Amino acid sequence: MRLRLTVNGETRELEVAPDRRAVDLLREDLGLTGVKEGCGVGECGACTILVDGATRLSCLLLAAQLAGREVTTIEGLAPAGQLHLVQQAFIDCGAVQCGFCSPGMILAVVELLRRDPAPSRALILEGLSGNLCRCTGYHMIIDAVEAAARVLRAEAPS
Ligand code: FES
Ligand code: FES
Repeated sequence: MRLRLTVNGETRELEVAPDRRAVDLLREDLGLTGVKEGCGVGECGACTILVDGATRLSCLLLAAQLAGREVTTIEGLAPAGQLHLVQQAFIDCGAVQCGFCSPGMILAVVELLRRDPAPSRALILEGLSGNLCRCTGYHMIIDAVEAAARVLRAEAPS
């Protein structure tokens, strides 16, 4: 089938098999290897992408379900050569260790802060509950979310 979608601001049109998974389309056909595959069954969050601004697990989506949608992967989060404020906060707080969970985690945080720019610690924990990290013990990640939220609020027009 012929599939047309927008990925990281660019319109893409390509031929895909009806049973092709979104994670394979993004990683293999489009070379967006920032999309990670951990469990492959919807439990780890490593494959998180934004579809029309909402977090989705690309290992559980068919490529065909992205037809006409706007997809953002970690590669499209910030202009080339720059970091998104959430990426910068992760670095500043030591929340990136092996980095495998980071793309999905960061996209989940971007969506969380879009919904609530001042989330409580409990809401941060809830917002990240679908993203597993085997390295950090989560403390630095939560610190990074709070730091990013502070920057976001400071930058918001008053
Ligand atoms: S790879 Fe998709 S949730 Fe784990
Ligand atoms: S930094 Fe290694 S899995 Fe999270």
